Amino acid sequence: MLVYLCLLSLILCNFGISSKGIPSYITLCKRNDPELDKCILRAVEQIKPHLKKGIPELGIPSLDPLVVPYAGVSTGPDFNATFENIEVYNVYEFDLKKFAVDLDKIELDIELSIPNLRTKSKYSVNGKILFLELKGSGPSEGNFTNIRAFVTGKGKKVERQGKSYIEINEVKVDANYGKPVLMFSELFENKEVTEQTNKVINDNIESLIEELKPVINQVVTEVVQNLSSRVFSKFSFDELFPM
Ligand SMILES: *[C@@H]1O[C@H](CO)[C@@H](O)[C@H](O)[C@H]1NC(C)=O
Ligand SMILES: *[C@@H]1O[C@H](CO)[C@@H](O)[C@H](O)[C@H]1NC(C)=O
Ligand SMILES: *[C@@H]1O[C@H](CO)[C@@H](O)[C@H](O)[C@H]1NC(C)=O
Repeated sequence: MLVYLCLLSLILCNFGISSKGIPSYITLCKRNDPELDKCILRAVEQIKPHLKKGIPELGIPSLDPLVVPYAGVSTGPDFNATFENIEVYNVYEFDLKKFAVDLDKIELDIELSIPNLRTKSKYSVNGKILFLELKGSGPSEGNFTNIRAFVTGKGKKVERQGKSYIEINEVKVDANYGKPVLMFSELFENKEVTEQTNKVINDNIESLIEELKPVINQVVTEVVQNLSSRVFSKFSFDELFPM
């Protein structure tokens, strides 16, 4: 019995220790690596299979789905919409096309594509958009294919308790959201009107996305900022990029 307790506490102990450190499946990149960008690309490939479940050691939650609690969209006094509990599926199946980093200036330049992305949320709309007068709420979903995203980040090093940490404070996101298919259920009491309206929305999806793009980019920016700050506030510069 005692042996088992010891064993158990040993396991728990070890788990406790390793959950504070960087998981061993991640190969850290040396800060002076002449091929730092390539090294990071490789490290991201190692991390990717673990993103679905999340990486608690890095403070990264499960990305299946990635949950965004709230997003508000407004194009002025004529139209606003809110989305609550947005569940984003398959975001971890991204393809990293480019990852350039400058550790002296603390600058990142990332390009990635996401082949298939599915969203579910509770929406509420009110106002005029395209040539539609909308007022309603209910469940909504969307299917996006071949999203291409361009992310840049700028930051600085800050000192905390004698250690240097990276703080990313200027994230910019631009993206091509392609031609998604959206569905707003229960938009009108009449099912046929709801269906017709959804058809009009999807027939005009490209101009709709164009109009809403700044707000969508803003939400994505916040998500990127949130996730990156979790990692960078947890580990010092020396821990992430050893000599
Ligand atoms: C739209 O904006 C008005 C005024 O800010 C607010 O009262 C209303 O709840 C909003 N509606 C939606 C659907 O977000
Ligand atoms: C999105 O894709 C899923 C899976 O292929 C499908 O079941 C769903 O109906 C699609 N939703 C829309 C709005 O097209
Ligand atoms: C970002 O983090 C803040 C604080 O934890 C949270 O309130 C907010 O909802 C998050 N935003 C997104 C888009 O996840």
